[in-house]
Amino acid sequence: MANRGNFSGRIGFILAAAGSAVGLGNIWRFPYLAGENGGAIFLLVYLCCIFLLCYPVMVGEIAIGRSAASDAFGSYSKLGGRKWGYLGLFGIIAGVLILSFYNVVAGWAFGYFLHISFGDLLSEQNFGTFFGTYVNDIIDLSSLGGLANSNLLFSLVFMVLTAVIVSQGIQKGIEASNKIMMPSLYIILVGIIVYSLTLPNAFSGVKFYLIPEFSELKIQTVVDGLKQAFFSLSLGMGALITYGSYLSKKENITSSAAVISIADTSVAFFAGLMVFPLVHFLAYKLNINPQEIGTSGPPLIFVVLPQIFHEMGPILGRIIGGSFFLLVCFAALTSTISLLEVPVAYLVDQKKMKRTTVVWLIALIIFVCGLPSMMSMGMIEWLNKLSFYRGQDFLTFIADMSDICLTVGGCLMCIFIGRRWGMANMDAELTHGNDRYMASGVRSYLHLTIKWIAPILLGFLSIVIIVEKFFGIENLF
Ligand code: TRP
Repeated sequence: MANRGNFSGRIGFILAAAGSAVGLGNIWRFPYLAGENGGAIFLLVYLCCIFLLCYPVMVGEIAIGRSAASDAFGSYSKLGGRKWGYLGLFGIIAGVLILSFYNVVAGWAFGYFLHISFGDLLSEQNFGTFFGTYVNDIIDLSSLGGLANSNLLFSLVFMVLTAVIVSQGIQKGIEASNKIMMPSLYIILVGIIVYSLTLPNAFSGVKFYLIPEFSELKIQTVVDGLKQAFFSLSLGMGALITYGSYLSKKENITSSAAVISIADTSVAFFAGLMVFPLVHFLAYKLNINPQEIGTSGPPLIFVVLPQIFHEMGPILGRIIGGSFFLLVCFAALTSTISLLEVPVAYLVDQKKMKRTTVVWLIALIIFVCGLPSMMSMGMIEWLNKLSFYRGQDFLTFIADMSDICLTVGGCLMCIFIGRRWGMANMDAELTHGNDRYMASGVRSYLHLTIKWIAPILLGFLSIVIIVEKFFGIENLF
């Protein structure tokens, strides 16, 4: 056990866990989900989900990991018997699924960073067409953008970067890289927000984002808000069990989890604060209604934002656009390392394999698992329109399946804590590093949520998502 590795202290752990949480989910998915779901009202629902439900689940997950000091499978088996170990295994498989498509999207962002900073992507005429062609042909599009261009290569490089960091271990790899990337990310984010707020019509975007329109509240808003909150905080699949297992008993879990939740939520919040003023600025420039700018769906940051950077002119566009995609890459990388660490920790702890070997082996497997997602954006027709999945593409299918795994995993985890491991054991774990825990209000709040509210709500939500995904939500209510 001695050489499993550990974080150097509270700051290292918080930065790494916040790095895991802050990712494409915050910058790529949150703004478009908010755009689709009425802006401010989505934000409100999202915040409620984070503080009422996700924070307790996060505390529980970290407590399991630290108490057992093992990987996801090992922790569940140690605390609850071998059968529960399968829940850990389920999470590990979910992590492999997530990383397989996540790395593809990260590869797009990395390609955009290179193309905007060093190529001539911003001189394109039509960013929608460009994006379509870019994701469609994964091998080479050297005629586009002026730079040799290959999605396959970009996501391969991204996976290699991830593997290099994870192979260095907890302190020298994961912790050290987060200590550089996380502060840089905040600086870039704040810089772009300050700039975007100076643009004409920016405040109309701020209004859309901050003033809720309660009539927009629909069941879809709640479903999207909750699944996004879960994904964004990296809950439900053992990433935080794994990171928690490297945390010292001296540290206070309840307060660390609060800092992590706030750090993650603030980045999602700021990403919206950056995107909506930009979108409203573009609407003003083109003299159209902001609603006419398609802010919905995955293309938001790859189609609408480049168009805005284009409007800023060649030099400023390159600087702001390049910084933006660098920010996305940092955010994605701190998340991909946490996703890779989950299966790696499993094989290192359980099969006693060497970290370096395991890292490269798993990175390769996951990269290969990502190929169908990569090829599903138009290159291969049947992957682009899955007949069993309402004609949607394979990448969307995997992303949706991951959402289901996370909510199901989270629900079962709460059942595990409440009914198998026991609330008393969780309390004992949380007392380490926090002497006042037993008498605090946080304790009652955690008990109520983990024992009752979370499992019921997450179970219900999982069913709703499954029905929604396979049959369409219009058939549900
Ligand atoms: N939370 C990350 C994001 O918002 C993604 C992520 C990293 C994740 N590790 C995870 C999601 C573990 C679920 C589980 O982009």
